[in-house]
Amino acid sequence: MSAPDPTRPVANQDITSILVEDRAFAPPADFAVRAHLADPAAVRALRERATADPVDFWCEVGRQDLRWTKPFTVGLDWSDAPHARWFADGELNLADNCLDRHCQTWRRHKAALIWEGEPIGDGGPEIRTLTYGQLLEQVQKFAAVLQSLGVAAGDRVCLYLPLIPEAAVAMLACARIGAVHSVVFGGFSAEALRDRTNDAGAKVIVTADGGYRRGSLLRLKDVVDQALVQHGGAPSVEHVVVVRRAGNEIAWAPGRDHWWHERMAAAPAGLAPVPVPAEHPLFILYTSGTTGKPKGILHTTGGYAAHVTRTARWVFDLRDEDLFWCTADVGWVTGHSYVVYGPLSNGATVLMYEGAPAFPAKDRFWDIVQRHRVTVFYTAPTALRTFMAWGEAPIVAHDLSSLRLLGTVGEPINPAAWVWYHEVIGGGRCPIVDTWWQTETGGILIAPLPGVQTCVPGTATVPLPGIVADVVDNAGHPLPADVGGLLVVRHPWPGMARTVWGDRERYKQTYFSRVPGIYFTGDGARRDRHGNFWILGRVDDVLNVAGHRIGTMEVESALVSHPDVAEAAVVGRPDPVTGQAIVAFVTPRAGVVTGPPLGEALRGHVTKEIGGLARPAEIRFALGLPKTRSGKIMRRLLRELATQGTVTGDTTTLEDFGVLEKLRVTDEE
Ligand code: WTA
Repeated sequence: MSAPDPTRPVANQDITSILVEDRAFAPPADFAVRAHLADPAAVRALRERATADPVDFWCEVGRQDLRWTKPFTVGLDWSDAPHARWFADGELNLADNCLDRHCQTWRRHKAALIWEGEPIGDGGPEIRTLTYGQLLEQVQKFAAVLQSLGVAAGDRVCLYLPLIPEAAVAMLACARIGAVHSVVFGGFSAEALRDRTNDAGAKVIVTADGGYRRGSLLRLKDVVDQALVQHGGAPSVEHVVVVRRAGNEIAWAPGRDHWWHERMAAAPAGLAPVPVPAEHPLFILYTSGTTGKPKGILHTTGGYAAHVTRTARWVFDLRDEDLFWCTADVGWVTGHSYVVYGPLSNGATVLMYEGAPAFPAKDRFWDIVQRHRVTVFYTAPTALRTFMAWGEAPIVAHDLSSLRLLGTVGEPINPAAWVWYHEVIGGGRCPIVDTWWQTETGGILIAPLPGVQTCVPGTATVPLPGIVADVVDNAGHPLPADVGGLLVVRHPWPGMARTVWGDRERYKQTYFSRVPGIYFTGDGARRDRHGNFWILGRVDDVLNVAGHRIGTMEVESALVSHPDVAEAAVVGRPDPVTGQAIVAFVTPRAGVVTGPPLGEALRGHVTKEIGGLARPAEIRFALGLPKTRSGKIMRRLLRELATQGTVTGDTTTLEDFGVLEKLRVTDEE
């Protein structure tokens, strides 16, 4: 990589791009020859056609890739913009597409899920394999269980589960009867779970007694119990279904709580899929925004299904003989689209691993790849940087020759990590697909097609066919090559979010007002002279910590809800492993003694309010925070302080210059 060149164009928006990368990796011949998309000329023609008429392109995808109980005749309906409708007069069921249609072929006896638990007992780890036929049976039964608990089409079901097969079963069972799932990541606190359950108005929570992570027990049912009793609880919840995973002791509310295995044993077999209109809601998934309240991103059925089915096949080049391991938890959108719906809709075999990469030792992932002979591996850059820091010994001890394709998602991958991934994990033989997308986009929008495209470390390359992405200035004008600006998508695509649950106005405000009428991603980007998109990170107050989106406002609200805190401001600083780390500037209430015990108490408080993923890496106490004359906290200054330790930028709008001095000297806990 060349050294940063300070004379390169500096963008508007304060987005400066200094990365220059000139290494390029063409598809290896033996990969290309077998790929779904292998003919560059054909792909060029496909792209041209898709750009000329994206709606026609996606209609063809919808027809080819999915089974419809009632075929659609309309492609895109944009009359209620920015709330898109795709394939609106069609009807289908996504569980039918992921399961039943494969069970009518030889794939009934093919493995759909191969799951491995974290603990390692005398006989090795627990492994469960579900064929498509077996997964269908479980889904049919659990759909019947949900119905017996009064869940009907349109009702919301909250899933708070470890990464176990029951998570996929419960998602698909909801889809089978038209219920809407809202998966809440098992690392979220009782407060976060309660807020999300209430916002969605969920009738049922599906959880487990416990799960395993890093060798310790996560007491999920206890968290659900807390969420249901403290601070007004969650009045919409009528039933809790509990998977027995860890066998830990739990409290029981008779009438409300039900064992998964008991209900499943009593459930009838063979429940038929309920056809739903294409625009029927499929799931809500909460994600961080710039305000304190998480947004319930709503995805619907037909468009989402078409998008994730096609992108899973094209980007991961999935074939029947593959074993696809996407390491994401089902609590994140990646787990929805590329652990469950995308791969299963293609009839692929998915590997699911419950636990952490360092348990019981730092080679667990590579042990899994070797034992199961994983062929396609998809993970996050933060994980890769962790593996790099652990050194090569845990890796070279294993045979990774089954791998043929690698992927990344969640944050920009620095070229050094990319090249390391390519050499050390991929043995120099596997293309790497850097996939850019978001909870809101439903599926991948920017990524290489690995059989035809040259990969360049650090860029997700170009938008997929049918995706019209652009880099623009604030007024929506396209920017020339190498100038940083706002990453937008100009044309609706089928997997796009339909709205924010219960808040249509917020959807419009958040995504379609910065550049009026055009989808704004919240990310900055630049395009190089080859047309490759380089993602420069968020331009709003959202942090990306270890691939998890965390709104600075969420952490601030949590901090100020502590009785000792008068005011708080949260910023990110670069971190070599997690990408960004959270730094909190806290002004204590009068008379409060600051120091390490308060810092620990506040970290614990944030963990309790949101979850461990939002725990600040650093807390600095300050007698005041720098503000503009209109009272806005000047985060830019705080970012400089957090990153460099001093402030060099413009401070002319600062209200109280003394504050900066105080911030510098009071420092740490
Ligand atoms: C970031 C995860 C650079 C980006 C699927 C985006 C990326 C946010 C990439 C969405 C990538 C995701 N390169 N940045 N390949 N993939 N991001 O909603 O800032 O959890 O807006 O969805 O992650 O995070 P989310």
